[in-house]
This record gives sequence, C-alpha cells and structure tokens, in this order.
Amino acid sequence: MTDLPIFPLTDEHKMLRDAARDFAQKEIAPIAAEFDESGEFPQATIKKMGELGFMGIEIPEQYGGAGMDALAYVLALEEICKVDASHGVIMSVNNSLYCHGILKFGSEDQKKKFLTPIASGKAIGAYTLTEPQSGSDAGTMRSRAVRDGDFYVLNGRKSWVTSGPVADYFVVFTMTDPDKKQKGVSAFLVEGKTPGLTRGKKEPKLGIRASATSELIFEDCRVPAENLLGTEGEGFKIAMTVLDAGRIGIATQALGIAEAAYEAARQYAGQREAFGQPIGQFQGTGFKLADMKTRIEASRLLIYNAALAKEMSKGTEGRYSLEASMAKLFASETAMFVTHQAVQIHGGMGYSRELPVERYFRDAKITEIYEGTSEIQRLVISRLELGMK
Ligand code: CAA
Repeated sequence: MTDLPIFPLTDEHKMLRDAARDFAQKEIAPIAAEFDESGEFPQATIKKMGELGFMGIEIPEQYGGAGMDALAYVLALEEICKVDASHGVIMSVNNSLYCHGILKFGSEDQKKKFLTPIASGKAIGAYTLTEPQSGSDAGTMRSRAVRDGDFYVLNGRKSWVTSGPVADYFVVFTMTDPDKKQKGVSAFLVEGKTPGLTRGKKEPKLGIRASATSELIFEDCRVPAENLLGTEGEGFKIAMTVLDAGRIGIATQALGIAEAAYEAARQYAGQREAFGQPIGQFQGTGFKLADMKTRIEASRLLIYNAALAKEMSKGTEGRYSLEASMAKLFASETAMFVTHQAVQIHGGMGYSRELPVERYFRDAKITEIYEGTSEIQRLVISRLELGMK
C-alpha cells in the first residue's frame, strides 16, 4: 500500500496496519477458501482478532477498545479485507454498526454493559434495521415495541442481520409510535439470550459466505426500558448516523477486495504468456490494469478522506454523510469493476475455484447492496448536493 503524502501515517497507524496485515496473512489467508466453501463462521480467528484489539478500534480503552482514530480503523480493516471479506464484514459491523452507536448515543451504564464486552472482542455485536418488506425504505418498518411498565415488548421480524446467528448483543430499531413514521422509531439494546428472541435460518449467500446472516424473530420479547438507546423516537436518526460510519467500513471492505483482485491480476499478467509474450504486454491487458489501479487509488483517497471527516466530527453534531456515501459508492463499484476485470485477465483460471479470484468477484457484489445500495448512496449524495437535506 502507498503512504500518500497527504495522509501521513503516524507510527501508531503503521504498527496497527502492519499487525493487521501480519495477522491476515498468517492466520486468515490459510483458511479463507475453506471457510468460504463450508460457510462456517470463523469463530477462532474472530476471537483472536478481538484479543488483538481489532473489534473496537475507535472505542476508548475504558470501554474495552483500542482507543485509536478513524484512520487507524480503516487501515486495519483494509488489511483484513485484502485477505478475506467475510472476516472484514464481521469486523466492520462489530466496530461501526454496533459499537459506534452505543459510544455516541449510549448512557454511561449502557456503555459499560453493552460496549465493553464487544469492543474487547469477548462477544459479538450486530445491528438490525432491515425487515422483510423494508430495506432501502427503512422508515417503513413494521416491527413494534410497546411500553409495559419497566419493559418494552418487542414483536416483529428483522432480516439480513450480519452476525445474526452468532451475535451476543443486538442494536434493534423498531417502531414505538407508527403514526410518527421515521420519528416514531426507537433503538434498543437487546441481549441475544432474551426470551422471545429467536434466530431464523442462516441465509445461503453468493459471497461473504463465512459471515453468518439471518433473520431475527421477536415474539413478545420483553426488553428492560433502561435498554432504550437515546430517547424514544430518536431511533431513525441513530440508525442513519451509525450507517454513515458503517458505510466507511463497507467502502474499506470493497477497497480490500479490489486490491486483492488487482494484485492477483497484475501478477498473472506478468507470468501468463499468449502469442509469444506475457499477456500484460498486450495493451488490451495493460490498459485494464491501468484503469483498475487508478480506480483503486481514487477509492482509497475517498475512504481516507471520509475517515478524516468522521474523526473531525467526533464530539460535535457534524455529519460526514456526503464523504461516507461517496466513498462507499465509488469503492463498491470499483470492487465490481476490478474483480470483473481480474476474472477476465485470468481467463479460465479466473472462473476456477482453484484460485481466489472468483471468490473476490462473488464477495464484491454485496458491497453495492448492503448498508445502502448504490442507488441509495446516489440519493443521499444528490439530496445533500441539491440542499434537499
Ligand atoms: N445522520 C443523521 N440524521 C439523518 C441522516 C444521517 N446520515 N440521514 C437522515 N437523517 C435524518 C434527517 O435529517 C431527517 O430528520 P429531520 O426530519 O429531523 O430533518 C430524518 O433522519 C429522516 O430523513 P429522510 O427524510 O432523509 O428519510 P427517508 O425516509 O427519505 O430515508 C434514506 C432516507 C437515505 C433513503 C434512508 O432511509 C436510507 O439510508 N436507507 C437505506 C437503509 C440502509 O442502508 N439499510 C441497510 C441496513 S444495514 C445492513 O445492510 C445489514 C447489515 O447487517 C450489514
């Protein structure tokens, strides 16, 4: 990776990046294909990532985290995603979709109870917004929470929950006042073993197969009122604020996938011969590599810029939605472009499960879909640019 002069890295950044790179190469690379094939959740390596401080990078040490900044987070995540996007999304969701919201909106007691075990990697956290009939139009959710004394009673279904089958704790977004639409959504911190909460079947997926995804079913699930995150009706704002952080994580996942695919294609183009010369010497292949590399570096700049915008927003009410959405949009479409070209450069071998290139291609697609589709990112960017939000 390049240390671009406008993003001078501190010694701490470099140490964390190198530790993540070393771990990914030594511990994840040997098992990535096997776990992709089996679809098994990589419990042992995720536990080790927790021990190394990768599961709560921006969370202060007093709550079990590594106490580093937003750039440190993307640098470490990029290294993990270069080797395996499944480990990457588990790390991303834990750090940003789960921890970030509790750090920003949680009470002191909530931080101690719901942040510390997750940020220190002893337990896994997940985020539940989507429902069977509401994905992009997240404000139209049908699940309900009704106050009953010192509890809220939750009913409904949540879908496409990353780490759903294995998570110990969830941030759950649900309607407390349906008449108010988005302003009637509230957020709750729910322990995975709460009676009335069950996990649906694990989704069989095209890519990121080692990350576990499922529905959650709430049937008269009684959650203590003290587990309300923020205030009643503040849930949609919390969900959107947290997604801005999450989108930087998914952009980084896309960057890592694209870098891995590019490096494989670059090496193959230098070795594989056709018509008497390495295929990289044909302009048709060389130009492909040039476009791949340029888009990757542009993605990296957008992502690091978004991370710096996130860092600057800390402790303020400032948003970095524009930077996060542009980074996710560009990096995810770059990952699709680059993995597509990488398969093409590899020819038949790109289509074979003997090489990881087809896995990169399958893994890339989800980055254009989850945590806001490319269409939703364009909506967010255009509304902000037109002064509509
Ligand atoms: N930060 C803070 N507040 C925000 C915000 C943000 N980024 N975005 C919107 N808001 C606020 C608005 O200011 C507005 O508040 P006011 O009324 O007080 O002004 C309120 O939220 C409603 O905003 P909108 O009117 O813009 O809401 P909308 O219904 O038009 O929706 C949307 C906007 C951008 C389309 C949004 O619904 C969205 O992002 N949809 C995509 C959802 C998504 O990404 N889902 C993925 C779920 S996670 C996942 O994939 C699974 C996983 O586990 C990885």
